[in-house]
Amino acid sequence: MTANRLKNKVAIVTGGGTGIGEAICKKFASEGASVVVAGFPEDPVEKVAEEISKTGGTAIAFAGDISVLANAQRCVAMAVKEFGKLDILINNAGVFPEVNMLQDYSEEAFDYMIKNNLRSAFAMSKAALPELHKTKGNIVSAGSESGVLGIAQNAPYGGTKGFMHAFMKGLAVEQAQFGVRCNVVGPGPIDTAWTHTGTGPMDSKMVKTMKEATPMGRRGTPEEVANVYLFLASDEATYVTGALYMVDGGITVAKGGVGSQADSSMKDEPEGELKLKHSKEGHTSIRSN
Ligand SMILES: NC(=O)c1ccc[n+]([C@@H]2O[C@H](COP(=O)([O-])OP(=O)(O)OC[C@H]3O[C@@H](n4cnc5c(N)ncnc54)[C@H](O)[C@@H]3O)[C@@H](O)[C@H]2O)c1
Repeated sequence: MTANRLKNKVAIVTGGGTGIGEAICKKFASEGASVVVAGFPEDPVEKVAEEISKTGGTAIAFAGDISVLANAQRCVAMAVKEFGKLDILINNAGVFPEVNMLQDYSEEAFDYMIKNNLRSAFAMSKAALPELHKTKGNIVSAGSESGVLGIAQNAPYGGTKGFMHAFMKGLAVEQAQFGVRCNVVGPGPIDTAWTHTGTGPMDSKMVKTMKEATPMGRRGTPEEVANVYLFLASDEATYVTGALYMVDGGITVAKGGVGSQADSSMKDEPEGELKLKHSKEGHTSIRSN
């Protein structure tokens, strides 16, 4: 079910090796975009680019810490050198290294989130804007339902996402004079490494509570989130800027354990079309880089 909705577009997707980012890269490539899959050297960015190329899409990998401005600039330069321009920047990179009450929350995890959740979006947006001015392109960044309501036992994480919402709204207003749109996607609990006990910092009680707090009674899939990134990044959204699009199964408007009442037709994750191989290999602990 592809429609070339991003035909002739060039996109950078940060955090593109795993989780939601892998789905965005594969979705965008299947819709005709040339994609730069950007992530840490440890992330499967080369693999995702290869998997896209094997299925007839166009993608290259950029391996580096994009919260460092010089790396962000190299990433943008790579897109322009390889594909001639840049139309779309997706600031999807982020980390979720710890779950704890604030009195026990480590300073290390706090600083790690400031760097990877915020500085990365700042550096990439700053580096990309001169190119986006030329193409009248757009930026879509990863917010979160936790940036709207806050999140218990991970208050600093929710804070980084609240920053992202306000940051993108400010950019939307100031960058309109250059023809650049800026929007945010606000995922709820998504089926990636972060929301499973074996692969992320959540315990089983938190996973159960999270699902029950969601009216649809389940996590969203990475592909369901990628579909909304696709709309916002495409020319179908030419009148959308400064918006926060929730993709959260209704969790932001819910109160209490409503998920246990979800209709069975909503409770199964859709199979989707993308062949995702890295959706549970994401970034869930502090690394030394
Ligand atoms: N999974 C969820 O439930 C959920 C909910 C709300 C919002 N989000 C947001 O969606 C985004 C993706 O989350 P995910 O669940 O797919 O996690 P993930 O760990 O699978 O993906 C994030 C990727 O970003 C990369 N990354 C982080 N900092 C980087 C940096 N400085 N340089 C290069 N790469 C970097 C990580 O290594 C990882 O590959 C995040 O911004 C997250 O905050 C996720």
